[in-house]
Amino acid sequence: MQTVQDAAALRATIRGWRSQGQTVGFVPTMGNLHAGHQSLIRLARARADKVVASVFVNPTQFGPNEDFERYPRTLVQDSAALTEQECDLLFAPEVATLYPFGPASTVLLRVPGITTMLEGAHRPGHFDGMATVVCKLFNLVQPDLAVFGQKDFQQLRVIERMVRDLSLPIKVVSAPILRADDGLALSSRNQYLSPEERSRAPYIHSTLLQMRELLDAGHPWQAVEQAAHARLVRAGFAPDYVVIRDAENLAEPSGQAGERLVALVAARLGSTRLIDNLLLD
Ligand code: PAJ
Repeated sequence: MQTVQDAAALRATIRGWRSQGQTVGFVPTMGNLHAGHQSLIRLARARADKVVASVFVNPTQFGPNEDFERYPRTLVQDSAALTEQECDLLFAPEVATLYPFGPASTVLLRVPGITTMLEGAHRPGHFDGMATVVCKLFNLVQPDLAVFGQKDFQQLRVIERMVRDLSLPIKVVSAPILRADDGLALSSRNQYLSPEERSRAPYIHSTLLQMRELLDAGHPWQAVEQAAHARLVRAGFAPDYVVIRDAENLAEPSGQAGERLVALVAARLGSTRLIDNLLLD
């Protein structure tokens, strides 16, 4: 696997592939790769001739009191994991490479509804920073397809809308959530948990499963949300939101036949903020 830090080298390698008619799959990450990220690489591997991964802890998508400074940076291990997954090219730029003049032109993504609710409401500016860096990375890599995990369900929907609304010639491929054996969704942030918190963290997944059961049993979605919220609070979590939404536009359920629903949770356990979700069909 080739590793490049600067944009010119990245473009040169990809130009070479393109001149041979090869397709390019792209997996953007912030590094500290776990099996969830690796499954995205495998999916890209299966769908494209060449696979590019990026590792970049993007400062513009973190709020002032968030974990940008302590976010785990493990480039040596990440590079080994990507080599093992037969990734072809790792793009690991410095902050100054993507933001040479400091604060950059920003993609102020205002997807009606989707960007201001849930994560958008609890992490002001997060989606602007995320969309800005993904847009920059898309312009640098110019992939045929890009893979995003359902773990960040709202992020996936925002990217899908950005690609569609801005007519970007990229196919967005979504990948299922990879979980630990006890149900906890894999996340780089899980390592912030103390052993005691780690043992309680799967409660989020069991709450999501219970939400699905209650909904299947015919309980109204508002009652299911309230019961799940109370369950998490009783177990010592501080939820930002516990909701059931339309899986396409993340609006409140309309009750129309055939509507796909998703349950979404964001909750703090100690100082760690965890997010998870479950499709309810
Ligand atoms: P990061 O949190 O590193 O995640 C990179 C990709 O891995 C995202 O598409 C995310 O949804 C996916 N992912 C994370 N945990 C997963 C799991 N347990 N199962 C399946 N997929 C999982 O998301 C970001 O980085 C950034 O916002 C980024 C898009 C790179 C822009 O900076």
